[in-house]
Amino acid sequence: MRVLVIGSGGREHALCRSLAADPEVAEVHCAPGNAGIAQVATLHPVAPSDPAAVTRLAAEIGAGLVVIGPEAPLVAGVADAVRRAGVPCFGPSAEAARIEGSKAFAKEVMAAAGVPTARSRTCDAPAEVAAALDEFGAPYVVKDDGLAAGKGVVVTGDRDEALRHAAACGRVVVEEFLDGPEVSLFALCDGSTAVPLQPAQDHKRAYDGDRGPNTGGMGAYTPLPWAPAGLVEQVMAETVLPTVNELARRGTPYTGVLYVGLALTKTGPKVIEFNARFGDPETQVVLDRLETPLAGLLLACANGTLGGFGPPAHRDGAAVTVVIAAENYPADPVKGDVVEGLSEVGDGAYVLHAGTALDGGRVVSSGGRVLSVVGTGPDVAVARARAYEAVGHIRLRGSHHRTDIAASGL
Ligand code: AMP
Ligand code: GLY
Repeated sequence: MRVLVIGSGGREHALCRSLAADPEVAEVHCAPGNAGIAQVATLHPVAPSDPAAVTRLAAEIGAGLVVIGPEAPLVAGVADAVRRAGVPCFGPSAEAARIEGSKAFAKEVMAAAGVPTARSRTCDAPAEVAAALDEFGAPYVVKDDGLAAGKGVVVTGDRDEALRHAAACGRVVVEEFLDGPEVSLFALCDGSTAVPLQPAQDHKRAYDGDRGPNTGGMGAYTPLPWAPAGLVEQVMAETVLPTVNELARRGTPYTGVLYVGLALTKTGPKVIEFNARFGDPETQVVLDRLETPLAGLLLACANGTLGGFGPPAHRDGAAVTVVIAAENYPADPVKGDVVEGLSEVGDGAYVLHAGTALDGGRVVSSGGRVLSVVGTGPDVAVARARAYEAVGHIRLRGSHHRTDIAASGL
């Protein structure tokens, strides 16, 4: 089978790497890809959010499966177009992807499905925002209703800052603050059935100790030695299956990965957010531990045949990924700097590319998150040590990374 992956980040490099290792996969193609993905896939300079262009490319390649990485193409209806052309596609329809594209829609689906989540109000006017802030109290949580590339959420003790963010957004969701460690759980869905992958934890703030601005994610690890027994089963039963059923009932069945961002509160796991795609960088560690060949799993989702498949298997041991970010990420990352030391990374670790490009044979930075360095081992401590050892070999002028990734897993 030939597989086409849409996207260009660390997540897509991890997807392409796992697909290339699957004996059922003859060729991996990627659009647009990056300098690292070029080592495992054939790249195509096609705009990822252009439904007609992606569909044309899938036909040219003779793709037996299209896997859509980021949210923007999903919200733009790329999965709908690919499916209409008769090609199996892993990724929800534009309508179902509203679970990520609109926070208000996600809240409405969760309420209808009885899913445990923060109490919330959807607000259009400043007076409604002020009333909701006072109803829930500090810390205040204000979320832009629409896609905002990681910049839509403000969590603050400062009521004026919360009001200012709301005013800058237009429609917002104001919600109750959820206290507790965060977990990312990916459920693979075929429209009516869902199976879980192993949970991971992301580190979203830019700097050590969870300080600094929110980012797309600065590192992740799996498994979570501290996660309560039965967590996955509980979230599948309380959250994933009711959500999948509710979307099917509405005539917009969910095909793809449902990313459940959870806070483990004193009163149980509650949904912080849904995403319509794999998380980045959590995917880099989760796919490292996934033992079941990836292509068959994703194809079963696309074809609606996950029911007969059984739960995915994961390898023992752990994986930790540390993101190397460009100077001035997340504000306004500096691009075009040379990345050196990639070939010095030794056993037990490897480098996935996120924002990289080739410039006359040299790898240069081309985005905010440049590399995702993965370490593996029998436990989190060893995987973490190997990841940081590898990070030590990479040289990128002005770059920064967190030094406490996976410390909560020791
Ligand atoms: P999101 O963009 O929805 O991933 O939100 C970014 C981050 O804001 C989350 O990872 C949480 O750390 C934080 N956050 C969002 N909603 C809440 C909430 N209701 N309570 C506490 N933290 C939240
Ligand atoms: N790592 C967080 C996300 O992918 O949204």
